[in-house]
Amino acid sequence: MANQNAFSVEVRNDGVAIVTLDVPGESMNVLNASFADEAYAVLDQVENDPKVKASVFISGKDSGFIAGADVKMLQATTSAGGAAHIARVGQLTFQKMADSKKPIIAAIHGPALGGGYELALACHGRVASDSRKTVVGLPEVMLGVLPGSGGTQRLPRLIGLQQALPLILQGKQVKAFKGVKKGMVDKVVPKEQLLDTAIEMALGMVGKVDPNRSAAKKDIKDRLLEDNPIGRKVVFDQARKMVKAQTKGNYPAPLAIIDCIEYGLNNGLEKGLVYESKRFGELAMTKVARNLMRVFFTDQELARHDFTGSKGADIQQVGVLGGGLMGAGIGTVSLFNAKKSVIIKDRDEKGIGNANQHIKDAADKKLKFQGITEQEHRELLSKYQGVIEYEPLKDCDIIVEAVFENLELKHQMIQDVEANCKDDVVFATNTSSLPLKDIAAAAKRPEQVVAMHYFSPVEKMPLLEIVKHDKTADWVVSTAVDLGRAQGKKVIVVKDGAGFYVNRMLFPYANEIAWMAMEGVPLDQLDKAMVKAGFPVGPISLLDEVGVDVAGKVQPNLLAQFGERFEAPDMSQKLLDANRLGRKTKKGMYLYDQETGKKLKEIDPAVYTLLGVEPNKKISDAEIRRRSLLPLLNEAVRCLEDGTITSPRDGDLGAIFGIGFIPFSGGPFRMIDAMGAGAVVNSLQRYEELYGMRFTPCDMLLDYARNAKTFYES
Ligand SMILES: NC(=O)c1ccc[n+]([C@@H]2O[C@H](COP(=O)([O-])OP(=O)(O)OC[C@H]3O[C@@H](n4cnc5c(N)ncnc54)[C@H](O)[C@@H]3O)[C@@H](O)[C@H]2O)c1
Repeated sequence: MANQNAFSVEVRNDGVAIVTLDVPGESMNVLNASFADEAYAVLDQVENDPKVKASVFISGKDSGFIAGADVKMLQATTSAGGAAHIARVGQLTFQKMADSKKPIIAAIHGPALGGGYELALACHGRVASDSRKTVVGLPEVMLGVLPGSGGTQRLPRLIGLQQALPLILQGKQVKAFKGVKKGMVDKVVPKEQLLDTAIEMALGMVGKVDPNRSAAKKDIKDRLLEDNPIGRKVVFDQARKMVKAQTKGNYPAPLAIIDCIEYGLNNGLEKGLVYESKRFGELAMTKVARNLMRVFFTDQELARHDFTGSKGADIQQVGVLGGGLMGAGIGTVSLFNAKKSVIIKDRDEKGIGNANQHIKDAADKKLKFQGITEQEHRELLSKYQGVIEYEPLKDCDIIVEAVFENLELKHQMIQDVEANCKDDVVFATNTSSLPLKDIAAAAKRPEQVVAMHYFSPVEKMPLLEIVKHDKTADWVVSTAVDLGRAQGKKVIVVKDGAGFYVNRMLFPYANEIAWMAMEGVPLDQLDKAMVKAGFPVGPISLLDEVGVDVAGKVQPNLLAQFGERFEAPDMSQKLLDANRLGRKTKKGMYLYDQETGKKLKEIDPAVYTLLGVEPNKKISDAEIRRRSLLPLLNEAVRCLEDGTITSPRDGDLGAIFGIGFIPFSGGPFRMIDAMGAGAVVNSLQRYEELYGMRFTPCDMLLDYARNAKTFYES
């Protein structure tokens, strides 16, 4: 790849050089340190050619401007010095652009992220297309590193410290129309005018290049805070406090980002860049970054994975039965993300009223905050219908059912669909607890029945678990996979069985937490220990959020299918009997503000009385973590053992995106590999002696321990 050209230069009659980046052999432009020599040569060429007055950098790919630096290159580095060197090479190349006396303008269409946006930041101006695909930002923090090619130095200088900090700390990707408001890009124009506008801007800057130009329009308050070291210290102190509270010390990158910005603003750009590359190198070697990079690659692999080898049906029209919490969400992602025609059917006007309102609110939100036009808003809504009769569903290609969790009702839905819709319609159920084969038992065409198990809230939760039973046809699975991906979901395909995969590995963890609660471990300690371990939400908060009524439906099925190891204390039943369902009843294990419904920070002391426990058991956070995670790890391996999941990759991503399993661990299987199967087995056996067979290691884990095997090669 390195000996083919990534850059090409065309000098126009008006003196503007169009520099096109088109990385050979890649569907997207990604930056590699091996391009540096070529980039230098191109920059020298335009700098030294007297005919050239200015340049425009543009992508030769339809897929976008530059998606970032090549993560594979980073993953292959084995030392902090090596990684720092990669960052330094990028910095020096971009500095050469920034130092050019002749203006250079970035013409951005599609993603300009990470190294791609750092390149654009080094240009003297940025024009972006108004396409929804066009996003700018520095998402490196998501991979456990920092923008190492000048991003931590140039963005704060361009748009101001307080604006830049959250963007870099959260790795936000900003759409063009918002980017222009923030000063991240200078102009947004229709794609057809992109090149001409960039050329015009470039020519307008000839002889007027100002390397210190800032887009930030600061008011007095911002100037007082940002333009002197004392004011800035206030901003940095607050940012550090916030980051520490949020990351619980699990993610080193955000603090390193703050250090880099502070160092650069206090010591100047040149020193700031050197410092940035050093910190980048250190971060790239951390376990956190290594695992997040692995998740990034396995995620990409999953997005391309062909689960069946069969082609899915062409889907134009999606029908949804039930316009409640889940149905309305499924309708929304089908309409707005997958861009399908959507019909939601509920049983009565009240039910459909909820769905109609939900869809309208979602469309209005897009109009207000996500830059769609009035025309697009109208078009989107014109592809939606809310109905109470079957007739309009007759041509739907797929029906996703999200009515109440009741087997007879689900059977009725299948029969209604078979009676009213076309013969080759796919019937997908969103059941959370009923075995799929039991639902399919009522079908004349069971091969067309599949489960699409979404998580709540549908619009936000990234995972979709697709479940097939023994008779589900491959083309039906592929149809569900295609629709799920079009809806923006990360899709795993699993085998039918109680709890499918996600709930099945979640419940041993949740049950162990419940056992500890009933032994008198304070509920807030259980939450805090697991958040400190790296879960985004603690298990007690999660139960309050989901509702014990919902969780309580899954547990008995798991117990019925898998027996004793899924036994749980009667905690859920006690909460259920007292109608302490959590957020939905403004009464759960936490206290709730009765007016706003907002969850408060304190546990409701009345819960301990209800549960009949004194919350005074002394236990370390590490012990809570070990005791609750081990049964989860064991169950995840059992799922692989019995074919519920087909690969550790699906098991890891299902856990991370389905329940927020500690992302920087890489997932349960990566965690076992890191600990060593032998150590996991030893710990399980130690707890087995104390608490019984719910800790008995499964055969596959024993085998891995005996033979020192790992789930991944690296
Ligand atoms: N809530 C969750 O977190 C969650 C997560 C995953 C899966 N699920 C599953 O999704 C399904 C729906 O759950 P929900 O939380 O959206 O319930 P919900 O109570 O919010 O909505 C159910 C909707 O179905 C409608 N309905 C009932 N009978 C109907 C019929 N005969 N025809 C058409 N519509 C009918 C109701 O009027 C209601 O609007 C359940 O199977 C549930 O187990 C729920």
